[in-house]
Amino acid sequence: MDPQGADAAPDNRQQTPASDGERVNRIRVVQACLDKVQNRTYLEIGVSTGSCFSKIRASTKYAVDPEFKIPERRRRDTEKLADKTSYFEVTSDAFFASNRGLLESSRIGVALVDGLHTYKQSLHDVLNILPYLDDDGFIVMHDCRPRFASEARPAANHGEFMRTGKWWEIAWTGDVWKAVVELRATRSDLRVAVLDCDCGVGIIRRGKPDDMLALKPEAIAAMTYQDLVKDKQHLLNLRKPDYFWSFLL
Ligand SMILES: C[S@@+](CC[C@H](N)C(=O)[O-])C[C@H]1O[C@@H](n2cnc3c(N)ncnc32)[C@H](O)[C@@H]1O
Repeated sequence: MDPQGADAAPDNRQQTPASDGERVNRIRVVQACLDKVQNRTYLEIGVSTGSCFSKIRASTKYAVDPEFKIPERRRRDTEKLADKTSYFEVTSDAFFASNRGLLESSRIGVALVDGLHTYKQSLHDVLNILPYLDDDGFIVMHDCRPRFASEARPAANHGEFMRTGKWWEIAWTGDVWKAVVELRATRSDLRVAVLDCDCGVGIIRRGKPDDMLALKPEAIAAMTYQDLVKDKQHLLNLRKPDYFWSFLL
């Protein structure tokens, strides 16, 4: 999803924690993470029109999307915010398969996972990033907290989602939330939480988690949106937006 009104990231490197939790969104989260890490190399998986990508300041920016929709003028403005910007018009899987050398040499400071909104692909994107993520790096995931069953409806892709639902159901988070649940159940080396803002902003960094979920991947695969509704705080480690500032420390 690309909600209207997502604030542009401020361009100062010293972030002031937002006192109003509503101001936290994926763009601010990505920028604050980049302003914290040593290696300011940014990867965005799923870029679309560039509403987020175009506002991010970094040393190097990599954009990955099988179908960019970035207006030419926005592309020019985007490139002013980085020393180097590269576009890869391919799926995330194809990007990782053919850019190992590049990723090994540049490594990744911060990545945003916001491509295909399926459980398996979003999980795969996180797992593909991890070998290249610096020790102090962050992965941000968008659309981790669906607000309605319709938004969370699993589909193979956005086109199928649009074809198979009601015409007014245009927001699609899919079942990305299950990737968060699986990471919380299987990775004892990652701290994972979801900020309750901007359709659910997942935040991931290396470290020992406070708790883990006692769930097997097969059980997670069988879960439904109703299971999420019953236990979303625990399943997602769902936090108020301002939690981000302590996670960042
Ligand atoms: C919700 S949009 C991204 C929005 C953008 N990150 C932002 O914050 O403004 C999702 C994008 O993912 C792209 N996408 C779909 N399948 C993908 C895949 N397998 N790999 C990478 N990107 C994919 C779509 O083309 C679409 O542009």
